[in-house]
Amino acid sequence: MTKEKGMKGGLTNYGDKDFSVFLRNSFARSMGYSPETLRKPIVGIASTPSGFNNCHRTVPELVEAVSRGVLAAGGLPLTFPTTSLCEPFLNPTSMMFRNLMAMDTEEMVRAQPMDAVVLIGGCDKTVPAQLMGAASANIPAIQLVTGAMSTGRHKGERLGACTDCRRYWGRFRAGEVDRHEIDLVEGRLAATAGTCAVMGTASTMAIIAEVLGIALPGSASIPAVMADRLVCAERSGTIAMSLVNCAIRPSDLITKHSVENALRVLMAVSGSTNAVVHLAAIAGRLGISISPERLNQISDETPVLVNLKPVGEGYMEDFHAAGGVGAVLRELRHLLHLDTFNVLGQTLQERLDEPLEWVDRNYIYSFKTPVSPVGGLIALSGNLAPDGAIFKRAAATPELFETEGRAVVFESLADLAERIDDPDLDVEPDDILVLKNAGPVGAGMPEAGYLPIPRKLAKRGVKDMVRISDARMSGTAFGTIALHISPEAAIGGPLAIVHNGDRIRLSVREKTLELLVSEEEISDRMADWRPGSAPDRGYQALFHRTVNQAPHGCDFDFLTGTGRNGNALAGDGR
Ligand code: FES
Ligand code: MG
Repeated sequence: MTKEKGMKGGLTNYGDKDFSVFLRNSFARSMGYSPETLRKPIVGIASTPSGFNNCHRTVPELVEAVSRGVLAAGGLPLTFPTTSLCEPFLNPTSMMFRNLMAMDTEEMVRAQPMDAVVLIGGCDKTVPAQLMGAASANIPAIQLVTGAMSTGRHKGERLGACTDCRRYWGRFRAGEVDRHEIDLVEGRLAATAGTCAVMGTASTMAIIAEVLGIALPGSASIPAVMADRLVCAERSGTIAMSLVNCAIRPSDLITKHSVENALRVLMAVSGSTNAVVHLAAIAGRLGISISPERLNQISDETPVLVNLKPVGEGYMEDFHAAGGVGAVLRELRHLLHLDTFNVLGQTLQERLDEPLEWVDRNYIYSFKTPVSPVGGLIALSGNLAPDGAIFKRAAATPELFETEGRAVVFESLADLAERIDDPDLDVEPDDILVLKNAGPVGAGMPEAGYLPIPRKLAKRGVKDMVRISDARMSGTAFGTIALHISPEAAIGGPLAIVHNGDRIRLSVREKTLELLVSEEEISDRMADWRPGSAPDRGYQALFHRTVNQAPHGCDFDFLTGTGRNGNALAGDGR
């Protein structure tokens, strides 16, 4: 914590404290600040616009609104840039850079003199990265999201990224939609500024930030283009100033109880599978873990209440108009820990005691008549996933829930790309497609778990098959798909030794994923397994060496927990 406020916080170490203050003030004066202004508390604004990030197009106006709120409350807003990540612009996958952004955020928040921080993010990996960084830097912080896109229109139909992107692309591949039409659709899927319009990872993480209490109540679902989004930004600046004095820190908000609440709401909104990994990483920064047993218990007692794509019908703009997170929390009230609190210093109980204006039951169902009686996600275990796997039952085909099938194995992403559409591929609809070496160590854990249905089967009308891998999938995707298998193949998890033609059994009822091969045969194959080559320099080498497995959030092993010595190197001013 900053001992002294304003420019005196966290001093540069020249071995002479007074000189450090003198020099800093002198340089700050070169930006045109008066001595009186420099004595005010400082609210940092982590700003993430980028020419490579459409989801953050509105960040400049959000920064302006946050600044207005800080100034009105008597503080000095200072904006600083950090890494910005947008899903479709990063090679090989944005997941590989989430920890880079988290480190950047943590270190810049800690190193620069600020008394509180407002973090502006939105696209899938940015909010988790900012929350991980904020949890570790642990100065008063507020998350502000950019908000979801509004829908576009095509031939009288509403379109929103990115469930409709996949649907139209599937129709184009099947020859149902021609080149002219797919070109028209390309310009209508992402019709406004903001994050993907459905209950994908960005929407899910915005909701999780609100449930954790680190974003303003009611803020998660405000569409990107609405005036209310700017009002929320201004208010985030004002509230950040109030945090300077009452010093609620991320570690006071992100607790075992608030993490469990977030997991429960994740189930109820039928949120993204990726959110399980991100929530584990955020919680892991504060030494909080989520067991697969607890995840399943929460899932089994929490109904799906929200009817949004990819598993339902609506878009985030409908969810917002229907009552948003506040409406969902009220339905789940009896299952939530009501002693958690938010950046306003309000307990969840106090928040939920306030009357709700309106709920649209087309999009937010009641607890008594839910969309589905159980939660959207479950953890699988078994000899093929000793440390677990994730399965989105809400987005899967119930007829495939109990499947025993023959393994059709792809050794890597390259192997998959090369052979999946091969007319000679030996594959039938009741086989199980297996992708290896696409986990965090193997490939940075890309969204490759949504293996395409082999073209020869797609042409026969096959729409879904059991697919398993150590990869992730997009929060906007759907299918009977087991993901995040841990330990992953690249570090010698049992997935590594699955052979073409082995029998595999998925049981959603028993929550298991089993390789039906004798234990003796498995250990023989394991004994022959050798790891692949590793990158030898730079960030990729660091990633490969230190990334942990999905149940631990794919964070770097040296970033989890609070550290034995705290932040010993943080400097004189702390
Ligand atoms: Fe940014 Fe989907 S690409 S939220
Ligand atoms: Mg996504």
